[in-house]
Amino acid sequence: MRLLILTGIVVLTGCGGGNPLDNPADVANPPATGARKLSFAYFQRCIQPILTAQLPVTLNGVTTVNSCASSGCHDDTSGTGGALRVRGSAAEVALSDTPELIRTTDMYRNFYSSQGEVVFGDALGSRLIAKPLVRNVLHGGGIVFDSETDPNVKRMRYWIEHPMPEGQDEFSTAGNALFTPADAATGVCNEE
Ligand code: HEM
Repeated sequence: MRLLILTGIVVLTGCGGGNPLDNPADVANPPATGARKLSFAYFQRCIQPILTAQLPVTLNGVTTVNSCASSGCHDDTSGTGGALRVRGSAAEVALSDTPELIRTTDMYRNFYSSQGEVVFGDALGSRLIAKPLVRNVLHGGGIVFDSETDPNVKRMRYWIEHPMPEGQDEFSTAGNALFTPADAATGVCNEE
């Protein structure tokens, strides 16, 4: 038996397999680069209000009024809503602030958490939309939106389908084009 094991080690080492009893090679985990970013400006003015709005929510056939950001749902401290975390009291951020400063704010944390629920190139398959629509997935919070034509869904979809240009970050001025007129501070949120 011992001979068999030793023979096995010798054979494996000979085939370049290395010593099977050795520790495995370190797993390389380089930071993700080249990932597309969504518009922070559009999130702040057009998506955050959806996450804090009082909406009719139907759970087990019973409809109540609740917000995505409420406690028990996606509130940052008391929520049970999985990875989506929303600070309902997040203050509006001046877009003229530096990216470093904006990234320390609650509004930016809401943006980052919501962007984490997005699949680029598949807006309707993104959890941010699929969950409250209960579209091919269950949602602990029940049905929040009745259909894809709901104006809130249309806005979320527009945000996801209009990412910032390749190589540009979430503060890119390309975000102005998501508003009419094309001004992130004063324009109306585009929805299609
Ligand atoms: C517009 C409003 C809402 C949106 C966009 C939303 C979105 C989401 C998303 C993306 C997830 C998956 C999080 C993960 O990746 O782990 C989720 C899960 C969850 N949500 Fe919501 N939600 C909303 C409203 C609500 C409300 C009002 C409640 C409470 C009544 C709620 C309760 C939950 C719970 C308990 C889960 C965890 C269980 C699960 O994964 O389904 N949600 N929701």
